[in-house]
Amino acid sequence: MRVLVVGSGGREHALCWAIAASPICDKVYCAPGNAGIAQVAECVSIAADDIDGVVKYASDSKIDFVVVGPEGPLVSGLVDRLKAAGIKAFGPSAAAAQLEGSKGFMKDLLAANNVPTAWYKRFTDATEAKKFVREKGAPIVVKADGLAAGKGVTVCTTVAQAEAAIDAAMTAKEFGAAGNELVIEECMEGEELSYFVLSDGFATLSLGGAQDHKAVFDGDKGPNTGGMGAYSPAPVLDAALEERILREIIKPTLRGMAAIGAPFKGVLFCGLMITKTGPKVIEYNVRFGDPECQTLMMRLKSDILPALIATADEQLEHVDLRWKDEAALLVVMAANGYPGAYKKGSVIEGLDAASAIEGAQVFHAGTKSDTKDGKAVITAQGGRVLGIAATGKSVSDAHALAYKAVDAIRWPDGFCRRDIGWRAISREKSASSAL
Ligand code: AMP
Ligand code: GLY
Repeated sequence: MRVLVVGSGGREHALCWAIAASPICDKVYCAPGNAGIAQVAECVSIAADDIDGVVKYASDSKIDFVVVGPEGPLVSGLVDRLKAAGIKAFGPSAAAAQLEGSKGFMKDLLAANNVPTAWYKRFTDATEAKKFVREKGAPIVVKADGLAAGKGVTVCTTVAQAEAAIDAAMTAKEFGAAGNELVIEECMEGEELSYFVLSDGFATLSLGGAQDHKAVFDGDKGPNTGGMGAYSPAPVLDAALEERILREIIKPTLRGMAAIGAPFKGVLFCGLMITKTGPKVIEYNVRFGDPECQTLMMRLKSDILPALIATADEQLEHVDLRWKDEAALLVVMAANGYPGAYKKGSVIEGLDAASAIEGAQVFHAGTKSDTKDGKAVITAQGGRVLGIAATGKSVSDAHALAYKAVDAIRWPDGFCRRDIGWRAISREKSASSAL
């Protein structure tokens, strides 16, 4: 079978890597891919959000199955367009992708189905929004309704900060049309958890939990990013909590989507806050997390491709996935300056040495094959550039191995956090000292 993966990040590298290993896959293509993806797939230079281009390529090239990585093309209806062209695809319809595409839609759906989440109100007027913020006081969270590349959320500790966030979105249009409408909501406290399930619209299959690190610097300091590292499984997720998340959150959400005629098919990524009174939804995403996906693929023993196809075919009830009894941890290496302005084009060395470390895996997120002084080189082309992953018996072991591989990479123009997994590692330390 010929499979096309859409996207160009570390998530898509991990998906291509896992799919390429499937015995039922003859060849993987990736649009547009990156230098690392090119090692396991044939990259075709079509942008992920070029809906017409992807549909035409998939038809012309007799692609059997398309796996869509990022949210943009899902919200724009790529899966609907592929279906209309007779091509099977993994991912939700545009109607179901509204769970991520509009925070207001998502909050209304949760409210209608009694799913625990932060209280909220929707606004299209800045004066009204500011009045509400003054009434409620801080801390409070201001969110652009639409897709804003992970930047549309401001957790405000003062009313003045919330008013500034409202102006930035609604008056200065910092997030473009995504900020024409805002959701203002309660600031929740607790430990965050990313939880993933496959859903074919009827049946669900749990992929378990992961935790990422959104802040750019060690100690969870500095501005938020797309994620500076992740690990899986998440120690906070025990069987009782998982059962509660499925019963109180995932199942009612999926029933609610089916009831409005938009059954959700694909991977549902639930961002949760584990509060004192139980798990509450922070947000839904309609795709795999990046970098959480890489840690899931590292732990998966089974072939992922039949599960993705069964999701599209409404056959998920027949699928069972097996996982390694190990932890996986991933460290993101980003270009200096990220998540602010950064330079492109610096040369990265030591990738082969890092990949040669047993148990470690290098995923490319923003790289290009280039030549410099007549020599083939890999250069940095994005903010998040590499993800260095490793597995181990514990998160501490995976951490040690991942950083050994990080230290094999020579890239003066990049940086990483040194404390990925700290929460799980401190839990492991206190558990072993209690013995
Ligand atoms: P999001 O893009 O919605 O995932 O939000 C980015 C980050 O902002 C989340 O990972 C949380 O750390 C934080 N956040 C978002 N909403 C809330 C909330 N209601 N209460 C507390 N923190 C939040
Ligand atoms: N790592 C968070 C996300 O993919 O949105």
